[in-house]
Amino acid sequence: MTYIERMKEKAAEIRKQDVVRILAIESSCDETSVAVVENGRKVLSNIISSQIDIHKHFGGVVPEVASRNHILNIIPLVEQALDKAHLTFNDIDAIGVTQGAGLVGALLVGLTTAKALSYALNKPLINVNHIKGHIAANYLAFPELTPPFICLITSGGHTAIVNVDDYNHFTLIGSTQDDAIGEAYDKVARVLGLEYPGGVKVDRLAQNVEPVIKFVQHDTLANSYDVSYSGLKTAVINYVHKLEQNGQQIDVPQICASFQHEAVDMLTAKALRACKEYGQKKLVLAGGVAANSYLRSSLTEKCKELNISLYFPPMEYCTDNAAMIGSVAYYQLLSQDPADLNISALPSISLDEAIN
Ligand code: KG4
Ligand code: ZN
Repeated sequence: MTYIERMKEKAAEIRKQDVVRILAIESSCDETSVAVVENGRKVLSNIISSQIDIHKHFGGVVPEVASRNHILNIIPLVEQALDKAHLTFNDIDAIGVTQGAGLVGALLVGLTTAKALSYALNKPLINVNHIKGHIAANYLAFPELTPPFICLITSGGHTAIVNVDDYNHFTLIGSTQDDAIGEAYDKVARVLGLEYPGGVKVDRLAQNVEPVIKFVQHDTLANSYDVSYSGLKTAVINYVHKLEQNGQQIDVPQICASFQHEAVDMLTAKALRACKEYGQKKLVLAGGVAANSYLRSSLTEKCKELNISLYFPPMEYCTDNAAMIGSVAYYQLLSQDPADLNISALPSISLDEAIN
Protein backbone atom coordinates (compact mmCIF):
# COMPACT_ATOMS: atom_id res chain seq x y z
CA MET A 1 0.00 0.00 0.00
CA THR A 2 1.36 3.45 -0.86
CA TYR A 3 1.74 6.24 1.66
CA ILE A 4 -1.30 8.14 0.39
CA GLU A 5 -3.51 5.03 0.36
CA ARG A 6 -2.49 4.36 3.98
CA MET A 7 -3.23 7.96 4.92
CA LYS A 8 -6.68 7.96 3.30
CA GLU A 9 -7.53 4.85 5.32
CA LYS A 10 -6.23 6.49 8.47
CA ALA A 11 -8.25 9.64 7.81
CA ALA A 12 -11.41 7.54 7.45
CA GLU A 13 -10.69 5.94 10.83
CA ILE A 14 -9.97 9.30 12.48
CA ARG A 15 -13.31 10.69 11.27
CA LYS A 16 -15.07 8.11 13.46
CA GLN A 17 -13.29 9.30 16.63
CA ASP A 18 -14.94 11.59 19.19
CA VAL A 19 -11.67 13.32 19.97
CA VAL A 20 -9.26 14.36 17.20
CA ARG A 21 -5.98 16.04 18.08
CA ILE A 22 -3.94 17.84 15.46
CA LEU A 23 -0.34 18.95 15.76
CA ALA A 24 -0.17 22.12 13.65
CA ILE A 25 2.80 24.01 12.23
CA GLU A 26 2.95 27.61 10.94
CA SER A 27 6.07 29.17 9.41
CA SER A 28 4.81 31.36 6.56
CA CYS A 29 6.52 34.62 7.54
CA ASP A 30 8.38 35.74 10.65
CA GLU A 31 6.67 33.70 13.35
CA THR A 32 7.49 30.04 13.96
CA SER A 33 4.60 28.40 15.73
CA VAL A 34 3.50 24.91 16.74
CA ALA A 35 0.19 24.06 18.40
CA VAL A 36 -1.95 21.14 19.48
CA VAL A 37 -5.67 21.64 18.84
CA GLU A 38 -8.52 19.33 19.80
CA ASN A 39 -11.61 19.00 17.58
CA GLY A 40 -10.76 22.25 15.77
CA ARG A 41 -11.78 24.39 18.73
CA LYS A 42 -9.84 23.63 21.89
CA VAL A 43 -6.25 24.88 22.05
CA LEU A 44 -4.15 22.49 24.15
CA SER A 45 -0.97 24.44 23.38
CA ASN A 46 0.06 27.22 21.02
CA ILE A 47 3.75 28.11 21.15
CA ILE A 48 4.84 31.14 19.10
CA SER A 49 8.39 32.29 18.54
CA SER A 50 8.44 35.75 16.97
CA GLN A 51 11.41 36.99 14.94
CA ILE A 52 10.46 40.68 15.17
CA ASP A 53 13.58 41.58 17.17
CA ILE A 54 15.79 39.97 14.53
CA HIS A 55 14.13 41.60 11.49
CA LYS A 56 13.58 45.07 12.90
CA HIS A 57 17.27 45.88 12.36
CA PHE A 58 16.65 45.44 8.62
CA GLY A 59 13.41 47.45 8.51
CA GLY A 60 11.37 44.43 7.37
CA VAL A 61 11.40 40.65 7.06
CA VAL A 62 14.52 39.29 5.34
CA PRO A 63 13.33 36.00 3.81
CA GLU A 64 16.61 34.10 4.08
CA VAL A 65 17.07 35.13 7.72
CA ALA A 66 13.47 34.08 8.44
CA SER A 67 14.04 30.61 6.95
CA ARG A 68 17.22 30.07 8.97
CA ASN A 69 15.50 31.01 12.18
CA HIS A 70 12.55 28.75 11.43
CA ILE A 71 15.05 25.90 11.03
CA LEU A 72 16.58 26.67 14.42
CA ASN A 73 13.20 26.95 16.14
CA ILE A 74 10.96 24.34 14.65
CA ILE A 75 11.99 21.09 16.37
CA PRO A 76 12.27 22.61 19.88
CA LEU A 77 8.83 24.17 19.33
CA VAL A 78 7.30 20.81 18.36
CA GLU A 79 8.68 19.39 21.62
CA GLN A 80 7.43 22.36 23.64
CA ALA A 81 3.94 22.20 22.11
CA LEU A 82 3.61 18.52 23.04
CA ASP A 83 5.02 19.12 26.56
CA LYS A 84 2.69 22.03 27.20
CA ALA A 85 -0.29 19.91 26.11
CA HIS A 86 0.98 17.02 28.32
CA LEU A 87 0.89 14.75 25.29
CA THR A 88 3.27 12.61 23.24
CA PHE A 89 3.31 11.89 19.49
CA ASN A 90 1.14 8.83 20.21
CA ASP A 91 -1.74 11.11 21.24
CA ILE A 92 -1.67 13.05 17.95
CA ASP A 93 -3.97 11.98 15.10
CA ALA A 94 -2.77 14.15 12.19
CA ILE A 95 -0.27 16.84 11.23
CA GLY A 96 -1.55 20.19 9.90
CA VAL A 97 0.73 22.67 8.19
CA THR A 98 0.57 26.00 6.35
CA GLN A 99 1.21 25.38 2.64
CA GLY A 100 0.80 29.02 1.51
CA ALA A 101 0.64 31.92 1.06
CA GLY A 102 3.92 33.23 2.45
CA LEU A 103 7.67 33.31 1.89
CA VAL A 104 8.72 30.21 -0.03
CA GLY A 105 11.80 29.38 2.05
CA ALA A 106 9.95 29.98 5.29
CA LEU A 107 6.99 27.83 4.22
CA LEU A 108 9.32 25.01 3.16
CA VAL A 109 10.75 24.68 6.67
CA GLY A 110 7.31 24.01 8.17
CA LEU A 111 6.16 21.89 5.25
CA THR A 112 9.25 19.67 5.26
CA THR A 113 9.03 19.19 9.02
CA ALA A 114 5.33 18.28 8.73
CA LYS A 115 6.01 15.80 5.91
CA ALA A 116 8.80 14.15 7.90
CA LEU A 117 6.56 13.85 10.97
CA SER A 118 3.68 12.51 8.91
CA TYR A 119 5.85 9.86 7.25
CA ALA A 120 7.73 8.84 10.38
CA LEU A 121 4.65 8.73 12.63
CA ASN A 122 2.29 7.33 10.00
CA LYS A 123 -0.24 10.12 10.53
CA PRO A 124 -2.13 12.05 7.81
CA LEU A 125 -0.73 15.34 6.50
CA ILE A 126 -3.23 18.20 6.16
CA ASN A 127 -2.15 21.12 3.95
CA VAL A 128 -3.70 24.35 5.15
CA ASN A 129 -4.18 27.73 3.58
CA HIS A 130 -2.91 30.52 5.80
CA ILE A 131 -5.83 32.86 5.11
CA LYS A 132 -8.32 30.15 6.02
CA GLY A 133 -6.32 29.97 9.25
CA HIS A 134 -6.91 33.64 10.01
CA ILE A 135 -10.68 33.12 9.59
CA ALA A 136 -10.58 30.01 11.82
CA ALA A 137 -8.81 31.98 14.58
CA ASN A 138 -12.35 33.07 15.47
CA TYR A 139 -13.51 29.45 15.98
CA LEU A 140 -10.88 29.10 18.70
CA ALA A 141 -12.10 32.18 20.55
CA PHE A 142 -15.85 31.81 20.04
CA PRO A 143 -17.19 28.27 20.60
CA GLU A 144 -20.68 29.38 19.54
CA LEU A 145 -19.55 30.79 16.19
CA THR A 146 -20.58 28.68 13.20
CA PRO A 147 -20.84 29.53 9.49
CA PRO A 148 -22.47 31.09 7.54
CA PHE A 149 -21.20 34.62 8.16
CA ILE A 150 -19.55 37.52 6.37
CA CYS A 151 -15.80 37.71 6.97
CA LEU A 152 -13.65 40.79 6.46
CA ILE A 153 -10.11 39.54 5.80
CA THR A 154 -7.53 42.22 6.52
CA SER A 155 -4.00 40.86 6.47
CA GLY A 156 -0.52 41.77 5.31
CA GLY A 157 -1.01 39.90 2.03
CA HIS A 158 -4.77 39.85 1.45
CA THR A 159 -7.78 42.11 1.81
CA ALA A 160 -11.18 40.72 1.00
CA ILE A 161 -14.82 40.42 1.93
CA VAL A 162 -16.06 36.84 1.74
CA ASN A 163 -19.22 34.97 2.56
CA VAL A 164 -18.16 31.96 4.62
CA ASP A 165 -20.72 29.40 3.42
CA ASP A 166 -19.47 26.55 5.62
CA TYR A 167 -16.18 25.45 7.21
CA ASN A 168 -14.59 24.60 3.88
CA HIS A 169 -16.38 26.79 1.32
CA PHE A 170 -16.30 30.53 0.74
CA THR A 171 -17.76 32.96 -1.77
CA LEU A 172 -15.56 35.90 -2.67
CA ILE A 173 -17.60 39.14 -2.58
CA GLY A 174 -14.87 41.74 -3.05
CA SER A 175 -11.13 42.12 -2.74
CA THR A 176 -8.31 44.59 -3.18
CA GLN A 177 -7.32 45.39 -6.72
CA ASP A 178 -3.72 46.09 -5.73
CA ASP A 179 -2.10 46.35 -2.28
CA ALA A 180 -3.42 44.63 0.84
CA ILE A 181 -4.42 46.89 3.74
CA GLY A 182 -1.58 45.60 5.96
CA GLU A 183 0.91 46.26 3.17
CA ALA A 184 -0.38 49.86 2.92
CA TYR A 185 -0.01 50.30 6.69
CA ASP A 186 3.56 48.98 6.55
CA LYS A 187 4.53 51.23 3.62
CA VAL A 188 3.03 54.33 5.24
CA ALA A 189 4.89 53.46 8.46
CA ARG A 190 8.14 53.16 6.54
CA VAL A 191 7.83 56.55 4.83
CA LEU A 192 7.11 58.08 8.25
CA GLY A 193 10.29 56.50 9.63
CA LEU A 194 8.46 54.16 12.03
CA GLU A 195 10.15 50.94 13.01
CA TYR A 196 9.05 47.55 11.63
CA PRO A 197 6.45 46.13 12.20
CA GLY A 198 4.80 49.37 11.19
CA GLY A 199 1.03 48.70 11.24
CA VAL A 200 0.72 48.61 14.99
CA LYS A 201 2.87 51.77 15.36
CA VAL A 202 0.60 53.73 12.99
CA ASP A 203 -2.38 52.48 15.00
CA ARG A 204 -0.83 53.63 18.31
CA LEU A 205 0.20 57.07 17.04
CA ALA A 206 -3.25 57.66 15.54
CA GLN A 207 -5.01 57.18 18.86
CA ASN A 208 -6.93 60.20 20.15
CA VAL A 209 -6.01 62.26 17.06
CA GLU A 210 -8.89 63.80 15.09
CA PRO A 211 -8.14 63.25 11.37
CA VAL A 212 -8.21 66.36 9.17
CA ILE A 213 -6.33 65.41 5.98
CA LYS A 214 -8.23 63.85 3.06
CA PHE A 215 -5.76 61.91 0.91
CA VAL A 216 -8.12 60.40 -1.67
CA GLN A 217 -10.95 62.64 -2.85
CA HIS A 218 -13.14 60.00 -4.57
CA ASP A 219 -13.39 56.26 -4.04
CA THR A 220 -13.91 55.23 -7.65
CA LEU A 221 -14.89 51.77 -6.35
CA ALA A 222 -17.49 53.14 -3.91
CA ASN A 223 -20.34 51.19 -5.50
CA SER A 224 -18.47 47.90 -5.75
CA TYR A 225 -17.22 45.57 -3.03
CA ASP A 226 -13.63 45.89 -4.27
CA VAL A 227 -11.10 48.25 -2.72
CA SER A 228 -7.80 49.81 -3.80
CA TYR A 229 -5.00 50.81 -1.47
CA SER A 230 -2.36 51.80 -3.96
CA GLY A 231 -3.86 55.27 -4.57
CA LEU A 232 -4.16 56.03 -0.84
CA LYS A 233 -0.65 54.77 -0.13
CA THR A 234 0.85 56.84 -2.96
CA ALA A 235 -1.08 59.94 -1.86
CA VAL A 236 0.37 59.63 1.66
CA ILE A 237 3.91 59.07 0.33
CA ASN A 238 3.65 62.08 -2.01
CA TYR A 239 2.26 64.24 0.79
CA VAL A 240 5.20 63.37 3.07
CA HIS A 241 7.80 63.85 0.32
CA LYS A 242 6.37 67.26 -0.56
CA LEU A 243 6.61 68.43 3.06
CA GLU A 244 10.19 67.13 3.22
CA GLN A 245 11.15 68.93 0.01
CA ASN A 246 9.71 72.19 1.32
CA GLY A 247 11.44 71.73 4.67
CA GLN A 248 8.08 71.75 6.46
CA GLN A 249 7.32 69.93 9.68
CA ILE A 250 5.71 66.50 9.39
CA ASP A 251 2.84 65.88 11.80
CA VAL A 252 3.27 62.11 12.06
CA PRO A 253 0.29 61.35 14.38
CA GLN A 254 -2.03 63.43 12.16
CA ILE A 255 -0.89 61.59 9.01
CA CYS A 256 -1.32 58.24 10.81
CA ALA A 257 -4.84 59.13 11.96
CA SER A 258 -5.98 60.49 8.58
CA PHE A 259 -4.54 57.51 6.68
CA GLN A 260 -6.06 55.05 9.16
CA HIS A 261 -9.54 56.56 8.92
CA GLU A 262 -9.56 56.44 5.14
CA ALA A 263 -8.06 52.94 4.98
CA VAL A 264 -10.51 51.47 7.47
CA ASP A 265 -13.68 53.43 6.59
CA MET A 266 -13.73 52.30 2.99
CA LEU A 267 -13.64 48.66 4.11
CA THR A 268 -16.10 48.80 6.98
CA ALA A 269 -18.78 50.45 4.84
CA LYS A 270 -18.47 47.67 2.26
CA ALA A 271 -18.45 44.86 4.83
CA LEU A 272 -21.65 46.18 6.37
CA ARG A 273 -23.25 46.51 2.94
CA ALA A 274 -22.30 42.87 2.26
CA CYS A 275 -24.01 41.79 5.51
CA LYS A 276 -27.18 43.49 4.34
CA GLU A 277 -27.10 42.14 0.81
CA TYR A 278 -26.33 38.57 1.92
CA GLY A 279 -28.81 38.71 4.80
CA GLN A 280 -26.10 37.91 7.36
CA LYS A 281 -26.32 39.02 10.97
CA LYS A 282 -22.77 37.91 11.84
CA LEU A 283 -19.62 39.80 10.82
CA VAL A 284 -16.21 38.28 11.54
CA LEU A 285 -12.80 39.97 11.34
CA ALA A 286 -9.69 38.03 10.36
CA GLY A 287 -5.98 38.71 9.71
CA GLY A 288 -3.28 40.79 11.36
CA VAL A 289 -5.07 44.12 10.81
CA ALA A 290 -8.02 42.74 12.83
CA ALA A 291 -5.84 43.85 15.76
CA ASN A 292 -6.35 47.48 14.69
CA SER A 293 -8.05 49.53 17.39
CA TYR A 294 -9.95 51.85 15.03
CA LEU A 295 -11.22 48.98 12.87
CA ARG A 296 -12.48 47.24 16.00
CA SER A 297 -14.04 50.27 17.65
CA SER A 298 -15.73 51.71 14.58
CA LEU A 299 -17.24 48.34 13.62
CA THR A 300 -18.31 47.66 17.19
CA GLU A 301 -20.30 50.90 17.13
CA LYS A 302 -21.80 50.41 13.68
CA CYS A 303 -22.69 46.75 14.22
CA LYS A 304 -24.50 47.66 17.43
CA GLU A 305 -26.64 50.16 15.54
CA LEU A 306 -27.43 47.60 12.85
CA ASN A 307 -28.01 44.71 15.25
CA ILE A 308 -25.17 42.67 13.72
CA SER A 309 -23.04 40.41 15.97
CA LEU A 310 -19.38 41.31 15.53
CA TYR A 311 -16.56 38.82 16.21
CA PHE A 312 -12.84 39.51 16.22
CA PRO A 313 -10.07 37.29 17.55
CA PRO A 314 -8.20 38.15 20.75
CA MET A 315 -4.76 39.67 20.06
CA GLU A 316 -2.89 36.38 20.47
CA TYR A 317 -4.88 34.86 17.60
CA CYS A 318 -4.69 37.93 15.32
CA THR A 319 -0.98 37.50 14.67
CA ASP A 320 0.31 34.38 12.94
CA ASN A 321 -0.07 31.28 15.08
CA ALA A 322 -0.33 27.53 14.58
CA ALA A 323 -3.53 27.04 16.60
CA MET A 324 -5.59 28.66 13.83
CA ILE A 325 -3.94 26.26 11.33
CA GLY A 326 -4.91 23.33 13.59
CA SER A 327 -8.53 24.46 13.50
CA VAL A 328 -8.67 24.54 9.69
CA ALA A 329 -6.86 21.20 9.50
CA TYR A 330 -9.54 19.57 11.64
CA TYR A 331 -12.47 20.70 9.46
CA GLN A 332 -10.52 19.86 6.31
CA LEU A 333 -9.74 16.37 7.59
CA LEU A 334 -13.44 15.75 8.19
CA SER A 335 -14.37 16.40 4.57
CA GLN A 336 -11.30 16.05 2.34
CA ASP A 337 -8.51 13.58 1.61
CA PRO A 338 -5.17 14.23 3.28
CA ALA A 339 -2.23 15.58 1.23
CA ASP A 340 0.45 13.50 -0.48
CA LEU A 341 4.17 13.93 0.27
CA ASN A 342 4.89 15.59 -3.10
CA ILE A 343 3.01 18.84 -2.35
CA SER A 344 5.07 22.01 -2.56
CA ALA A 345 4.89 25.36 -0.85
CA LEU A 346 2.49 27.79 -2.56
CA PRO A 347 3.98 31.24 -1.85
CA SER A 348 1.48 33.32 -3.81
CA ILE A 349 -1.77 31.48 -4.28
CA SER A 350 -4.54 33.82 -5.35
CA LEU A 351 -7.32 34.51 -2.90
CA ASP A 352 -9.83 32.32 -4.75
CA GLU A 353 -7.46 29.37 -4.67
CA ALA A 354 -6.41 30.35 -1.20
CA ILE A 355 -9.82 30.06 0.31
CA ASN A 356 -11.40 27.16 -1.58
O1 KG4 B 1 -2.46 38.70 8.69
P1 KG4 B 1 -0.99 38.92 8.81
O2 KG4 B 1 -0.25 37.95 9.64
O3 KG4 B 1 -0.38 38.97 7.37
C1 KG4 B 1 -0.55 37.93 6.45
O4 KG4 B 1 -0.84 36.78 6.85
O5 KG4 B 1 -0.42 38.28 5.25
O6 KG4 B 1 -0.83 40.39 9.38
C2 KG4 B 1 0.33 41.15 9.35
C3 KG4 B 1 -0.09 42.57 9.02
C4 KG4 B 1 1.10 43.50 8.89
O7 KG4 B 1 0.94 44.23 7.69
C5 KG4 B 1 0.97 44.39 10.12
O8 KG4 B 1 1.51 45.68 9.94
C6 KG4 B 1 -0.52 44.45 10.30
O9 KG4 B 1 -0.93 43.11 10.06
N1 KG4 B 1 -0.93 44.86 11.66
C7 KG4 B 1 -1.64 45.99 11.92
C8 KG4 B 1 -1.83 46.03 13.33
N2 KG4 B 1 -1.23 44.93 13.87
C9 KG4 B 1 -0.70 44.22 12.84
N3 KG4 B 1 -2.10 46.95 11.10
C10 KG4 B 1 -2.79 47.96 11.67
N4 KG4 B 1 -3.02 48.08 13.00
C11 KG4 B 1 -2.56 47.15 13.87
N5 KG4 B 1 -2.79 47.25 15.16
ZN1 ZN C 1 -0.90 35.90 8.65
